[in-house]
Amino acid sequence: MTAHIAPTAILLSDYTPFSHLIDHVTLHFTLHPLQTRVSARLSLRPNPAAVQGQDLRLDGENLSLLSLALNGKPLAHAPDETGLTIPAADLPNGPFTLETEVEISPQTNTSLDGLYMSNGMYCTQCEAQGFRKITFYPDRPDVMARFDVTMDTDLPTQLSNGNPTGPGAWHDPWPKPAYLFALVAGDLVAHTDHFTTLSGRRVTLNIYTRAGDAHKCAYAMDSLIRSMRWDEQVYGREYDLDIFNIVAVDDFNMGAMENKGLNIFNSKLVLATPDTATDDDYARIEAVIAHEYFHNWTGNRITCRDWFQLCLKEGLTVYRDQQFSGDMRSAPVKRIEDVLALRARQFREDGGPLAHAVRPDSYVEINNFYTATIYEKGAEVIGMLKTLVGDAAYADALNLYFTRHDGHAATIEDWLQVFTDATGHDLTQFKHWYTQAGTPHLTLTDDFKNGTYTLYIKQNNPTTPGQPHKDPKVIPIALGLLSTSGAEVLPTTILTLTQAEHSFEFPNLTAKPIPSALRGFSAPVVLHQTQSNTDRAILLAHDTDAFNKCEAGRALAKSALTDHILHQTPTPHDWLAAITAVTRETTLDPAFRALTLRLPSDDDIAQTLHASGHIPDPAAIHAARRTLQTDLANHLKPHLPSLIAAHQTPGDFSPSAIAAGHRAFRLGLLSLMARIDTAPATHAYQNAKSMTEQLGALAILLDNGMGQPELAQFHAQWQNDRLVMDKWFGLQISMAAPDHAAHITKFLTEHADFDWKNPNRFRAVIASLAANHAGFHHASGQGYALLADWLIKLDPVNPQTAARMSTAFETWPRYDQTRQTLIRNELSRIRQTPNLSRNLGEMLDRMLG
Ligand code: ARG
Ligand code: ZN
Repeated sequence: MTAHIAPTAILLSDYTPFSHLIDHVTLHFTLHPLQTRVSARLSLRPNPAAVQGQDLRLDGENLSLLSLALNGKPLAHAPDETGLTIPAADLPNGPFTLETEVEISPQTNTSLDGLYMSNGMYCTQCEAQGFRKITFYPDRPDVMARFDVTMDTDLPTQLSNGNPTGPGAWHDPWPKPAYLFALVAGDLVAHTDHFTTLSGRRVTLNIYTRAGDAHKCAYAMDSLIRSMRWDEQVYGREYDLDIFNIVAVDDFNMGAMENKGLNIFNSKLVLATPDTATDDDYARIEAVIAHEYFHNWTGNRITCRDWFQLCLKEGLTVYRDQQFSGDMRSAPVKRIEDVLALRARQFREDGGPLAHAVRPDSYVEINNFYTATIYEKGAEVIGMLKTLVGDAAYADALNLYFTRHDGHAATIEDWLQVFTDATGHDLTQFKHWYTQAGTPHLTLTDDFKNGTYTLYIKQNNPTTPGQPHKDPKVIPIALGLLSTSGAEVLPTTILTLTQAEHSFEFPNLTAKPIPSALRGFSAPVVLHQTQSNTDRAILLAHDTDAFNKCEAGRALAKSALTDHILHQTPTPHDWLAAITAVTRETTLDPAFRALTLRLPSDDDIAQTLHASGHIPDPAAIHAARRTLQTDLANHLKPHLPSLIAAHQTPGDFSPSAIAAGHRAFRLGLLSLMARIDTAPATHAYQNAKSMTEQLGALAILLDNGMGQPELAQFHAQWQNDRLVMDKWFGLQISMAAPDHAAHITKFLTEHADFDWKNPNRFRAVIASLAANHAGFHHASGQGYALLADWLIKLDPVNPQTAARMSTAFETWPRYDQTRQTLIRNELSRIRQTPNLSRNLGEMLDRMLG
């Protein structure tokens, strides 16, 4: 085995304040693809809150130092691999200035971290630690400074943070950490609008794109304006600069970045027209535009003391963007979608070798912690806090948070203290949600005697890597009770668990009720309860809580699927009848009916089987899911043609949630219809009036072994649109039959348009293979080997994306011995690659255990 240097873990317990404060930073960029010069002038002084007399340590990576001067006097210190030290002996006791000039090469920076080039445009990504690739600086979030930036370039569009002070000159009046720095220079066009804030400040809004994309920004702009209004109305937060710029970039590792006054976005989260973007794209754009805008207060005005506190800004900002989308769309449907995504990504993470706390206490590479746990579980924790203290107290606490910590780099302790001070709640036990990883499992049992219904709830907190012991958590359970005729006998009530076991009594009932527990998914837990299919059908028909109504349908489907997989039980009639009733219930929102119609994914079924002590067989899961779909199609057959016709969206395209709901429902029906007859899907493809319909129909055809002519037509139509071509690549793989998935993936990686250095294209191909559960986990092991080959190839070019993609392997402990061995062999093979990045190395070490 190739020796690798054990990377050092960074520990939360090692935190100390930085030796110096930086009052001001002046940066000048002379832009050049291979030889960009960066001059920096830092105004520093000793930090009174730190140990005095320390060396000044600046971070810096891949920087050629051209000059260094302190108070105008040249210094001769040479940098090392990770930075530059100015010894204490050279440092004045009071304020001083430090000037550096470095040379960097944006064109050859393929990591897309720091200053890099994308299609002839210069752009930056500094979170978490990209600024150190631009200049020598204390690259940590608790060092906040005011920045002035100027640049020299022939490119006409020259942007940085703050307000413009001249051509290519920017002043940011708000102190900020280096990770919020941004610079863009290119030949771009602006889609411009304005927003007047609550106090009357007129703000110029620009969305910058390449010339050909200018007409695709209307929805993003509309989302931005609605976000700005919403944050004023709901959180009392106003924008604080004269200008707000967004730039769309084709090569971007993540979704988007909240740089102060200059948000940089992956172009797929900005650009949309009805014929190029799906309804899901529209919803994502709205959510991410809001997310990055909301960071202006939760992230920028109040930032994180250190990267262990990442959830302080991300959990809260996800929580806020989910609230926003719920307000803009259907709150119940949004909640169902968010919970399905949470289970698919976060429960999966929490149940495997990569499980970590919402606030971890150690990391090797912080970029590996931009995870579903930090983001989505972080948001769930805030939702629980709100449930526990109540809406009014939550609003008070947030107001106190904004006044007390504005301009600060804060911690989770600060956040919880605000809640304690504003609401009087003791949150000592609640804090376990931040520090202890893993998904609690709750077991519900009940009985009924002499008119009293008793509910017994046990909580169990499984161990996770490095955390063998867990304490009981505070868990709010929203409960309702229904009678067997479907009437609500107890409206939603919050039960608060604090111990491992509880019982709750409900007297004066005439008959044993049906519990509707965990309404609205009031806590991120796995619920085990023995429910009869009859009770589930009653909940599906009558529950007043939309989340649990949908959940009852899923519980029916899941038990049908697992019974079929484990005992070859035929598809139960009560499930078919119950789903048929919901499908035909015209008073229900079509978006809700679409969700109820959708069977749990293969990966979800695998997760469920594993959680109940079985070894999932990917091929059997896939086959069972198809059998149930076909049975449901045959059962619904008499109603399908009229339903499909009824949900055609007439008139001009609207991206509204209501119109999207009709399209989603209609595609769900067409997909069932295709199990019997693919002609309606072919017809839908030919008559598609939006990308949602065109791509949806194509997916249905591919899923049924058809669609080759349509695939060719699609390619001919869209070959010049990068974002649409990502869909063309991805769909063929995610819809491939299990036996062909690896082969098709390999074939597509040899396609002339497979630009693997572009993260969107790489993900479209490689993440789609991982998303094809039965194909990726094919017994041949070809899927595993192909992914491993590509991780090895991508790692030296773009370690962040390689590390992120490696999570496809995180579920290995679920599967049989043969698959476990195959996967572990691939993980070891990758681990032995010489010069593996710290990013991918850490992921492999954690997965290998
Ligand atoms: N703060 C950004 C967001 O959530 C994410 C940026 C993460 N980028 C990274 N390379 N780790 O909005
Ligand atoms: Zn964020």
